[in-house]
Parts: sequence; C-alpha cells; structure tokens
Amino acid sequence: MHEIAIIPGDGIGPEVMEVTLHLLNCLDIDLNYKEASAGNKCFKQTGTTIPEETIETARQADATLFGAVTTVPGQKSAIITLRKDLDLYANIRPIKSYPGVKSLYQDLDLVIIRENTEGLYAGIEEETESGATALRVITTKASERICNFAFEYAKMTGRKKVTAVHKANILKITDGLFKDKFYAVAKNYPDIDADDNYVDAMAMFLITKPQEFDCIVTTNLFGDILSDEGAGLVGGLGLAPSANVGKNNGLFEPVHGSGPDIAEKGISNPSAMILSAVMMLNYLKEYEEAVRLDRALRDVLREGKHLTPDLGGQSKTSEMTREIKGKLVLN
Ligand code: NAI
Ligand code: MG
Repeated sequence: MHEIAIIPGDGIGPEVMEVTLHLLNCLDIDLNYKEASAGNKCFKQTGTTIPEETIETARQADATLFGAVTTVPGQKSAIITLRKDLDLYANIRPIKSYPGVKSLYQDLDLVIIRENTEGLYAGIEEETESGATALRVITTKASERICNFAFEYAKMTGRKKVTAVHKANILKITDGLFKDKFYAVAKNYPDIDADDNYVDAMAMFLITKPQEFDCIVTTNLFGDILSDEGAGLVGGLGLAPSANVGKNNGLFEPVHGSGPDIAEKGISNPSAMILSAVMMLNYLKEYEEAVRLDRALRDVLREGKHLTPDLGGQSKTSEMTREIKGKLVLN
C-alpha cells in the first residue's frame, strides 16, 4: 500500500488528474489517496495558495501527484513553495519521442535534470532607485548535490554522457562555481562522459543536433527554459511529464500549467499527467505497473485514432482515456 497525496489544482489540473487516477485504479497496485488543495481556487476559499496542511499531506505521503495551478501575480507560488519546503532539489524532465506523434524529431530520448531550489528562482527581488534587481543564488551544496544526482541518475538509467549547461563566460563566479563542481563530481564517474555547453549554444543545439545529448544538468532558470524547448521538440506540453525529487519526498507533475484557454472544454491532453504518474510508479519501485501504463498510452498514441486536438486529433479527454483504459485491460 502506498499513500499518495493528490493536489489537483486549477483549470485543466483537476481534469487530467481525474482521468489519471481512473487509470491508476485499473492497475494491479494498492494506492491510498489523500486529496489536498492548492492554487488560485484554494486562495479564494482559504486566503492562501498553499495551506500548511497541504504541505504536511505531501510531506507525509509516499509520493505526491500534482496537477497544475493558476498563478496570479503577487500570490505565493504553490509549486515553488512545495519544491522548497520539501527540499525537492532535483527536477527530472524527460524529452522522449513517441511514435505516432507528429513532432520535429522521432528518435529523441534525453533527460534534463534541473536544479530546483535556488538560482534565479530563489525569489529574492527588490526595487532599486533605477528599477529592480533579482538575486541569482548558486551554492556549493546545491551545485554538488544536483550534479551528484545527475550522474547517479545517468548511472542507474544506463545513460552514457552528462552535459552541464551554464553561462560561465559571463556569470563567472556563480556559473564558474557550478561548472567546477560539475567536473569535480564527474571524476567519480569514470564510465560516464562529461562535457559542458553555454546555455545559448545549447538552445540552438537542442534544435540542430538533439540526438547528441543524453543527460543535461543545469541551474533552475536555464533548466526551465530548455525543458520547455525540449517539450516542443517531441510533441508539445501535453506530452511532457516531470518529477521533483528530494531526499525524503517525490512530487510528480506535468510540465504544463492550468491551460485556462482550454479548461472546462474536456479536450485537455492527459498524457503529460499520465506519464508523470508513470514516473511516480517507478519512484515507488512499481516497475511492472509503470511499464503497463506507459505501454497503454504509447499504443494509443501510435495508433493515432483517439487523440486530443493538441496532438492533431478530434477526441475528447474522456475518449482518449477510454482507449488507454481499453489497452490496459488487454495486457
Ligand atoms: P499552460 O501550460 O497552461 O498553457 C500553454 C499552452 O499549452 C496553452 O495553449 C494550452 O492550451 C496548451 N496546453 C497546456 N497543457 C495542455 C494539455 N494538457 N493539453 C492540451 N493543451 C495544453 O501555460 P500558460 O498558459 O503560460 O499558463 C497558464 C497558467 O498556468 C498560468 O497561471 C501559469 O502561471 C500557470 N502555470 C502553472 C504551472 C504549474 O502549475 N506547475 C506551470 C506553468 C504555468
Ligand atoms: Mg516552466
């Protein structure tokens, strides 16, 4: 039995969460859910976007599934608070091609590991006489542990190369530190190649020669931007899952937001949320059921008959889900 915290959130968050739970319930696995609220609707009801109770529910759970929230300027970000409070320092964002999905590349399989707790997302901003300043925080501890995590992850998942992405030619002290720590950690992994790229060049290489990359490790903002770019290479945000992992907790969420333009239309693509649940099952060491759910989704994507509009189809979320469930029951 695994205790799972469920945070559906706003907009399409609850829609993709509902169908994902429906599919998880078809698996041969015992999950006990505890729902908690966060986001803009929660703010209107409780005066906070992320109640203490929600953080505690996530902290106590074996894993957390997070949908998406609408963030309103001036309000505290629920997801950034969770990442910080639970010290979910590693954000894992796979960039994988899916047969049957129209995309720029058909043969990609790389992963971006993004530092999740500091960098420009430390949230330290102030107004100054001339405008405003944001502080970019890079610590030795966080740089070492994210680089360690990336090499361990590469080792465990059979990847051959880790590439650090930075801007050390301009941000000499902060990214100089990050790059130094990367190569210091790399020495402990002689069987895995290590190299590095500037972030601007990397943004181009991801488009011109993405097959040359295997595992990318980078700081918070660069990782956020490059992973959305990566999602664009393989079919868009509707297909991009992610994991946020720390020493004691794991939180799994689609890369996309609350999709206000398509909310309540019943056409959101549930794939990113389902693939996030697959990542959660692997984290819980439920490997066989993870493969089953992943395969069922892949089959439906490959057949291409029941896809949501963002994938070029005409199906509703519910129709695509019914097809995936059908595949699950078959194998
Ligand atoms: P978004 O990811 O919600 O939407 C961007 C575009 O992708 C939209 O056209 C949307 O329709 C489409 N899209 C996203 N997910 C989709 C899906 N599953 N199926 C089909 N189409 C999909 O990003 P946007 O519009 O910039 O932000 C909307 C709200 O979400 C904002 O309040 C933003 O702050 C918040 N947000 C929350 C995140 C989170 O909860 N982790 C992450 C990103 C944004
Ligand atoms: Mg983002």
